[in-house]
Amino acid sequence: MPVNDTQLSQMFEEVLTLSKVDATQSVAVLKSGYSDPRTVRAATDAALRLGAKVYGVELPAFNDPRAIGNDLTAIVGQTPLSGHKAALEALMAADLIVDTMMLLHSPEQEQILKSGTRMLLAVEPPEMLARMLPTLDDKRRVEAAAEVFRNASTFHAASKAGTDFHARLGQYPVVTEYGFADEPGRWDHWPSGFLFSWPDETSAEGVIVLDVGDILLPFKRYAQSQVVLEISEGYIRKISGGFDADFLRSYMEHFKDPEVFALSHIGWGLQPRAEWSAMGLHDKNDAIAMDARAFQGNFLFSTGPNTEVGGPRNTPCHMDIPLRHCTIRLDDTTVVEAGRVVAPEASIG
Ligand SMILES: [Fe+2]
Repeated sequence: MPVNDTQLSQMFEEVLTLSKVDATQSVAVLKSGYSDPRTVRAATDAALRLGAKVYGVELPAFNDPRAIGNDLTAIVGQTPLSGHKAALEALMAADLIVDTMMLLHSPEQEQILKSGTRMLLAVEPPEMLARMLPTLDDKRRVEAAAEVFRNASTFHAASKAGTDFHARLGQYPVVTEYGFADEPGRWDHWPSGFLFSWPDETSAEGVIVLDVGDILLPFKRYAQSQVVLEISEGYIRKISGGFDADFLRSYMEHFKDPEVFALSHIGWGLQPRAEWSAMGLHDKNDAIAMDARAFQGNFLFSTGPNTEVGGPRNTPCHMDIPLRHCTIRLDDTTVVEAGRVVAPEASIG
């Protein structure tokens, strides 16, 4: 059943409070013509009730002709803020931005965060926001796992389906997403509940096998056949299998950029209220399928850009691919066993 506007606005009050919004703060609500007006209204009402100075920044939508499909993550890098100095300054003046349009992976977002402004992305439908309303416990669990991740120098993922993937760690930071932006310069996403880092350059090696039921984003498709990815020196060198492999290869080749085949972030899901099945109950235009990225114990890997952590690859194609039933080992610590979170103890939800 749908969430009503009062509940949505109360939920925003809770998340903005977790994000340290109070009467001393200024809050910018960033929106475009495609933003959900209920989300914009609820964020604005909630920030006002908390006594914040609230203002809206509305930008025209921007279409990159290379994008196939209209998922907000289907193409990254260029946004309506690209080269827009006036809007950038208006946003950097805020203590916190509620982003209802999606600036993720853009250099402008990095500039805003470096200024100390916090950002909270909220683009999923109200019912999904309600099911995964963030809590302090989400932060505690994700941070406990991040502590182990930060101290590890190797990442290994394996599965019965044939995945045997490894990478070195340490060149790039560990990033946590727990659903609220409570530190200066922090970006977060409601809903979320997972963590990731990036393989050291050229260190990603091995085979990743997508099994039936694993998820391809932004296709928002459960794989119906196995896809075998052969990886060496940080890049996918070969994609083989049936229809899903064909589809993936054809999509990635469309960008005519060898960098799209690079491995990007790697990590695992820690959100017990995210469901592997949820994507199957939504239309493709409903959402960007955060359940798929966050469900507990998934091995989430991705391809393409790593500019958000100062890496060299600025490429518009970004695939997020969560796999079930994998075992993930950081050095000698098994954190996920066949898709079940097993360590550290404090991260188990
Ligand atoms: Fe991603």
